[in-house]
This record gives sequence, C-alpha cells and structure tokens, in this order.
Amino acid sequence: MRHPYGGRALITGASSGIGAAAARLFADAGYTVYAASRHPLPDAERITGLPMDVTDDESVRRAVARMAGDGGVGVVLHCAGMGVAGAAEDTPDQDVRDQFEVNYFGVLRVNRHVVPLLRQAGQGLVIITGSVAGRIPIPYQSHYSATKYALDAYAECLRMELKPFGVKVTLIEPGDTATGFTAARRFAVPEGSPYAAQVKSAVARMERDERSGHPAAKPARAALRTASRKNPPPRVTVGASYRAIMALRRALPARALEAVLSRLYR
Ligand SMILES: NC(=O)c1ccc[n+]([C@@H]2O[C@H](COP(=O)([O-])OP(=O)(O)OC[C@H]3O[C@@H](n4cnc5c(N)ncnc54)[C@H](OP(=O)(O)O)[C@@H]3O)[C@@H](O)[C@H]2O)c1
Repeated sequence: MRHPYGGRALITGASSGIGAAAARLFADAGYTVYAASRHPLPDAERITGLPMDVTDDESVRRAVARMAGDGGVGVVLHCAGMGVAGAAEDTPDQDVRDQFEVNYFGVLRVNRHVVPLLRQAGQGLVIITGSVAGRIPIPYQSHYSATKYALDAYAECLRMELKPFGVKVTLIEPGDTATGFTAARRFAVPEGSPYAAQVKSAVARMERDERSGHPAAKPARAALRTASRKNPPPRVTVGASYRAIMALRRALPARALEAVLSRLYR
C-alpha cells in the first residue's frame, strides 16, 4: 500500500469501534500508528497507545508532542465521538455542549496542534469522521446531527484553506455501524417528558439499525484507502446503500425528506 503522506498516523477515538479497527488496519498496512483515546489500547506491533482526552487541550498537546518528538505525523484520522439522544427541547445545554466538546471542538483541538506540523512539512492528510447524520437530520438526535453538520462545513473550509500548503482534508461519512457508540449513547429524557414515547421508539429504531449496520472495519478501510490517495476527494460516503441515500437526499424536496424521516423515526 502506498503511503503518500509518510508512514505515520495519529488516530483519535482509537480504543473502540471505527478508530480501533482503523488502528489495526493502518498498522497491518505498514503504518506506525499512535492510537489515542482516554482509555488507550495496550501497545501492540506498530501501535502505540496514547492517552488523550480531546476535550482537554493540555492532554491533546502532550499526546501530539509525544508523537511529533518520536518522528512526526503524516496522517491524522479523527474518530473520537459520542452521541446524546433526546428531544431537541428536552436536551439540557450541558449535554449539547458535551457533544460539541467531543465531536466538534475535539477535532479543532487536535488540529490546532497537528495542522501546523503538517503545514510546515508541506504535506499531510486530515481525515475527519463525520456521518450520514451530518447531511440528513436525525430527529431525537438533533444535537448530535448538529455536531456532524458543523464538521461538514468545517472540513470543506479547512480543505480549501490548507490546499495551498499541500495538506489534504477528507470527510468520511459512515452510516449505521456496529460499534461501542450504541452502548455509549447518553440519554436526555427528563421525567414526564411529552416526547418520552417518541424518543423510546426512535432510539429503538436507531439501535436496531446500528447493531445490524456495517462492521467497524468498513469505514476504517475507507479511511485507509483515502490515505493511499495523493488526491483524496472532499468526502467519502461509506457503502453503496448510503451513497444511494445521499443521492436521494439531494434529489428529494425538503418536505418529502421530512416525511420519510418522520415516518422512520416516529
Ligand atoms: N457507529 C455509528 O453508527 C456511526 C455512524 C456514523 C458516524 N459515526 C462516528 O464515528 C466516530 C467513531 O465512533 P464509533 O462508532 O467507533 O464509536 P465508539 O465505538 O463508541 O468509539 C468512540 C471512540 O471515541 C473515544 N472518545 C469518546 N470521548 C472521547 C474524548 N473525550 N476524548 C478522546 N476520545 C474519546 C472513545 O474512547 P475513550 O472512551 O477511550 O476515550 C472511543 O474510542 C464518531 O465520530 C461517531 O460519531 C459513528
């Protein structure tokens, strides 16, 4: 496999799911992998577990400095993420902020330390894990969707801004994937909520779809393939069925999309 950005990769959210699968796949493909998360994987061949909390700037600084000191970084793959389910109205600000701190500001924090290194090297690749939920709004998971919509805009802008410096940016968009995300989902459903029944039924649907979704290795392979391309695309939607859903989303009038989603998650 080609390593156009050098053979060193930093992967966040690497203790579980897509990040953990990516750490193994990148290592098998010959990369030296720094696998970062709050509960890092034990070191293995070509994999160094790195403690990193993406909500804590000092923890990110330390982890990136350690990797940079060992020999630099060429590819950064952002996989740290979490979700809170609940009605938009019910979800306390703190739960909204927690999601943005991990999913959106977490990416920013890591990039603030890594991007200067890539820019100075005149090459590198930033892969951000967005979601199909970053272009299709998911009711009862609205604030999670909002974090992914935010990443969508950020990734496109970052890509244009870094192009003159030789640094590439790609957004990976997985659909439902069977990972630790489902069990880690938090809930914001206050007692007596008028939305309780809808949230219960919508989340049951989401959980079913996630558990029967793609294996974590599928988006991880998409990330690895992206890293082998000198000219990676702005976005990679994972799996033919989700590419078809995205095409449909572009074609459907807004009211029709709303009707489909309302029916799916009622
Ligand atoms: N599963 C799906 O259906 C799906 C679909 C589309 C997109 N995605 C996205 O894919 C990405 C990976 O999620 P996943 O499905 O693989 O879920 P997962 O199995 O729960 O993995 C999430 C990872 O994020 C890490 N993490 C959470 N909070 C963190 C923090 N504050 N600092 C550092 N790391 C943190 C966790 O590790 P620690 O707890 O050890 O820190 C874990 O390694 C997320 O961005 C998610 O939104 C998932």
